[in-house]
Amino acid sequence: MKVLNVTGNQKLTGSIRISGAKNSAVALIPATLLANGVTTLCNVPDISDIDVLEKTLEYLNVSVKRASGSLLIDTKNLENKAIPEELSNKLRASYYFMAVLLARFKHVEMYFPGGCQIGSRPIDQTLKAFKLLGATIEENGCLFVIDAKVLKGAKIPLDMPSVGATINSIIVASLAKGKTIITNAAREPEIVDLVDMLNKMGAKIEGAGTNSITITGVESLNGTNHDIIPDRIEAGTYTIIGALLGDYLKVDNIIPEHIKSVTDKLEEMGANLDIHSDYLIIDSQNKLKKVDIETHVYPGFPTDLQQPFTTLLTRASGESHITENIYENRFMNVPYLNKMGANISQNGKTITISGPTKLKGTKVSATDLRAGASLLIAALAAEGDTEIENIEHILRGYEQIVEKLTNVGAKIEIKEI
Ligand code: EPU
Repeated sequence: MKVLNVTGNQKLTGSIRISGAKNSAVALIPATLLANGVTTLCNVPDISDIDVLEKTLEYLNVSVKRASGSLLIDTKNLENKAIPEELSNKLRASYYFMAVLLARFKHVEMYFPGGCQIGSRPIDQTLKAFKLLGATIEENGCLFVIDAKVLKGAKIPLDMPSVGATINSIIVASLAKGKTIITNAAREPEIVDLVDMLNKMGAKIEGAGTNSITITGVESLNGTNHDIIPDRIEAGTYTIIGALLGDYLKVDNIIPEHIKSVTDKLEEMGANLDIHSDYLIIDSQNKLKKVDIETHVYPGFPTDLQQPFTTLLTRASGESHITENIYENRFMNVPYLNKMGANISQNGKTITISGPTKLKGTKVSATDLRAGASLLIAALAAEGDTEIENIEHILRGYEQIVEKLTNVGAKIEIKEI
């Protein structure tokens, strides 16, 4: 088993470069299969979720060449096969293949997707969109068999602005006949990134980044070259670390607008933050005050940074409240933070963090990706040594996290025990 050992309370100085966005990459890689040809994706993060997608592409007989941050994907021999459950249940994004194979072959067989266990995570909105676009769906246990004689543009009113359902609807509608209008669409930057790539491939999509997206289907798409946007959740995570431990820490290669909800909260807390066009500098010398946070869809405060932010709030003076509106099971970091010395209580979907409290090193376990990030931040800020188990969760989403933190002065290493 791999564990992460951290000796806490080291000041961090220097620069951390943010990698390509995980949640863009995991949509863009399957979406390249919409084209018949070669696509080069740049700024692809080197994380284990991408390894799983690469294996899935190879299983579908797609050629993938990986070279320093880029993926060259050649779809000319793409085959339509049911992706084995042990691959599809590794990550939520595997169901983007469902949409792509349906769009290309009008028939797909796929198992229920996996992903972090942070709530029920149904896929009803994706299935509703597929049906509106003309598909029939048969469920055999966890296996979905989806067919369409013809895929036709439709009005798709989503019941909630789901990121995954918006992406799946865009993918299928891109090759469907006629016009599709998705209303109550998700507005996340990763959706805009996907649409930018698809439009370069020849798709006709308007309105990405708003809650109404119009897609005029085309006959076929071509390969292209595309740079993935920087990861706003990784940027937010290192900015939070900087607020706790930064000695003028630079968080480089960011799109400040994408993390505005987070930097606004940091400023409200009194953090010393200097934001430039594509980087920010954060320093930990200011005393931090309590804030209240509610997670919402973009451009609201992201659920993916709620757990990392909880760790920061243990060091703020006063009673902070966090309400988690997206997932019902995203407080699994809390018992471990309390074990480290935090004072956090939970009442339904709201937690109260009473601070400031000192954190001390101990043994903890990452239950999911962002809970893992929360505990890693706590370990970096704590007095003494912390051992984090189940770090596979963290490695799913943060590229070269040990190297990036070591380079700015953290004492952190992965050990095999
Ligand atoms: N929902 C439904 N039905 C659906 C789809 C969603 O009820 O058919 C509900 C979900 O249960 C949840 C909410 O709607 O309560 C939001 O789900 P959404 O579909 O927007 O999320 P997702 O596409 O499954 C992506 C990210 C998550 C991120 C969420 C919200 C990827 C691969 N995953 O998930 O990222 O938390 O959007 O922003 O893009 C992470 O990176 O740690 C992570 C979990």
